[in-house]
Amino acid sequence: MKTFGCQMNEHDSERIMGELLAQGLVAVDDPGDADVVVLNTCTIRENADNRLYGTLGHLKPLKERRPGMQIAVGGCMAQRDGEGILARAPYVDAIWGTHNVTRAWDLLEAARTGGAPAIEIWDGPGEGGAFDMPARRDVPWGAWVTIQTGCNNSCAFCIVPAVRGKEVSRPLDDLVAEVTRLAADGVTEVTLLGQNVNSYGRDLTHRRPLFAGLLRAVGEIDGIRRVRYTSPHPKDLRPETIAAMAEVPAVCEHLHYPLQSGSDRVLAAMHRGYTAERYLRQLRDARAAIADLAVTTDIIVGFPGETEDDFERTLEVAAEAAFDSAYTFIYSERPGTEAVALAHLAVAADVVAERFDRLRHVIDRAGMRRHEERVGRVEEALVEGPSKKDPTVLSGRTRQGKLVHFADPDGTLREGAYADVSITSAAPHFLRGDLLQVTARPRHRVRIPVTAD
Ligand code: 5AD
Ligand code: SF4
Repeated sequence: MKTFGCQMNEHDSERIMGELLAQGLVAVDDPGDADVVVLNTCTIRENADNRLYGTLGHLKPLKERRPGMQIAVGGCMAQRDGEGILARAPYVDAIWGTHNVTRAWDLLEAARTGGAPAIEIWDGPGEGGAFDMPARRDVPWGAWVTIQTGCNNSCAFCIVPAVRGKEVSRPLDDLVAEVTRLAADGVTEVTLLGQNVNSYGRDLTHRRPLFAGLLRAVGEIDGIRRVRYTSPHPKDLRPETIAAMAEVPAVCEHLHYPLQSGSDRVLAAMHRGYTAERYLRQLRDARAAIADLAVTTDIIVGFPGETEDDFERTLEVAAEAAFDSAYTFIYSERPGTEAVALAHLAVAADVVAERFDRLRHVIDRAGMRRHEERVGRVEEALVEGPSKKDPTVLSGRTRQGKLVHFADPDGTLREGAYADVSITSAAPHFLRGDLLQVTARPRHRVRIPVTAD
C-alpha cells in the first residue's frame, strides 16, 4: 500500500488495508514480493499526478516479470481520471474512486477472475465513505476519525470539491460511538478529519450539531486524552469552537489555520471569504482565549495575478502571525478549477521560486523563535517510538504537535505512553528535552472563559 497526499487519504488507506487483511492478505514491505499493490492517490497539485505515473512506471517491469501481480489505483486521481488511467498505464488491474473504498476487494477479485480491469467510480451525491470498514491503524494509541467528506466551498485554485463532491457530515452519535469504541481499544489520541471541519453538521437534518459540540462530546469520552482536528476554514471559525478549544482539557492547543495569501486582492480572487485583517483578528482572539496555542498554516505562492505588492502583504501577514510552522506551496494549475481562467495572469516561474524562498525565510525564522520560546518549559509528550535519526533516544509529540526527542535512561517508556519532558534546546523542526516523569493521568488545564463577539 502506498499512500499519496493528505490524512484523509492515509485514513482511507487504513480502511482498504483493513479490508484486504480481513480477506486473508498479508502485508509486505517490498512491492517485489507483493501479489497486490494499491496506490491511494492525490491530485491536489500537478506533482501529485506525476508521482503516481512515476510509481506506476516503476511497477511496470515488476508486473511484466510476474503477470499475476495486481496493481490497483484508488483515491482522488482515480476519482478524477477513472478509466483514463488505463490510457497511460494499461497494466493497471483495478481502479476505484474516493467513495468506493468498500469495493476494493471485490474489484480486485473481479479483475482476477474476469481477466480485464475492474473500475468503479462514484458519480453522485451520497454517503462519502465506508465508515464501518475495519481499519488497520498504524499505531495502537492514535486514530483518525473522518467526521465529514467533501467540500462546499469553491476556492478558485482547489480541485477538491470537484473530486470529493458536496459536504456530507456523519451524525454526532455515530462519531461518539466510534471514538468510544476506539478508546475501549486503547486509543488515547484522535484526530478529527474533514475538508472544512467548521461547517460540520450543517447538512445534517437531525439535531444539526455544531463542530464545537462535537469537540466537547469527543473530548469528554473516557480514555481520550488528546483531540486534534484538521482543517478549519478561517471564514467559518466560530467563537464557540475557540471556546471549546479553551475549555475542553483534551482538545489540544494547536490550530491549523490556512491563510493561503496575505493580500486581500488575492484572497478575493481565490474566493476565500475573509480579509487579512479579519484573519489576524481571529488569530489574536484565539491566542488570547487558548493558553499556549500553536498555530500552523498553508500558504500558496504565485496564484495567477499575484503582484510583488500582494506577495509583500503575504510576508507581512506571515511575520505578524508568527506561525509555528507552515506548509508553503507553489501554485499549481488544476484542470477544471476556476483559476484556469486566470492562466493569462500566470506569474513567471523564476519570480515564484524567488518569492517562495523569501516566504520560507520568514516562516522558518518565526518557527525557530516559537521553538526557542519553549526551552525551559515542561511539556507533555506522547511517545511515538525510537527516534528515526538516533534510535538511542525516543521521539514524542507535544500537545502543540511538536516533535521532541529525549533520552529514557531506564528504558521504561513504551510507544503510546505519556511523559513530562523538560525542554532543553530547540532546532528548526524539533525540540530536545530531558525526561522528568511518566504521567499517569491527564493534567487539567486552567479554564479561560471566552466571550463570543
Ligand atoms: N496549488 C497549490 N497549492 C494548492 N493547495 C490546494 N490546491 C492547490 C493548488 N492548486 C494547497 C492549499 C491547501 C492545501 C491542502 O493545499 O494551501 O490548503
Ligand atoms: Fe479546497 Fe477551499 Fe474546500 Fe479547502 S475549503 S478543500 S482549499 S475548496
